Amino acid sequence: MRVHKKRLDILTDVAAFKKQNKTIGFVPTMGALHKGHIALIERAIKENQKVVVSIFVNPTQFNNSNDLVNYPRTLNEDVKLLSSLSDEIIVFAPTPKEVYGDQISSINYDFKGLEHEMEGKFRPRHFDGVGTVLKHFFNIVTPNKAYFGEKDFQQLQIVKKLVEIEKMSVQIVGCPIYREESGLALSSRNKRLNQRQLDISPLIYATLKQVKKEFGTKSVYHINNWVSSQFENNSELKLEYFEIAKVSDLKSIKRKRKNIKYRAFIAVFAGEIRLIDNIALN
Ligand code: PAF
Repeated sequence: MRVHKKRLDILTDVAAFKKQNKTIGFVPTMGALHKGHIALIERAIKENQKVVVSIFVNPTQFNNSNDLVNYPRTLNEDVKLLSSLSDEIIVFAPTPKEVYGDQISSINYDFKGLEHEMEGKFRPRHFDGVGTVLKHFFNIVTPNKAYFGEKDFQQLQIVKKLVEIEKMSVQIVGCPIYREESGLALSSRNKRLNQRQLDISPLIYATLKQVKKEFGTKSVYHINNWVSSQFENNSELKLEYFEIAKVSDLKSIKRKRKNIKYRAFIAVFAGEIRLIDNIALN
């Protein structure tokens, strides 16, 4: 399997695929691959003739330098895993300089307010970093389709907006959240959880499932209070936010209305490790 570190090498491969009229699927990742990534990659393999997987811990999307330093980096294992999946995968694992040149900075995007909700409130300029790195990657890889997990649902909506803003022709494909048997949504950050945190963190999804159950009959006010109480005296998990929001603009609501699609979103700290999850409510 080819693993490219240089922009020029991946560009050469992509040009050859285009010449052969091969379709290209793209799965951008920050590595430390887990079954959630594998599900995205398998879907990309099914729907495209070639699949590019990028492995790049993008510095511009971290607003917490500790998180950037501690983000798991397991390139050798990742490459081994990918080479067992398909011969049609090409890995792009560049250095920051290869992606950004000498100036590691992000574009100031206007994602029509999507960037100011939820994650945006707690991670300033995070989505500028995501948008910027994806703009670079989409320009290099020129994929027909790019695949994103619904665990980062806000990111998925913002990537759709990015493609609109930048007038790119890539089709953005959202894929369902992949969960442990315990219900915990898969994330590369789970690798940093200790046993006690692993034991308690299924509470996050259990809470979301209960919210979905109660959404039809209980008020948003009641549900919000109930969710807070679930985490109030928990010494392992600290609730950062819980919101019920409209899918269309991600704005949180106080009251439900008919014929509008809603989702519940949650962010929780297990020690220093930040976990997010969400669920469709109707
Ligand atoms: O979801 C991620 O892992 C990252 O935000 C992405 C899309 C690879 C951009 O760095």
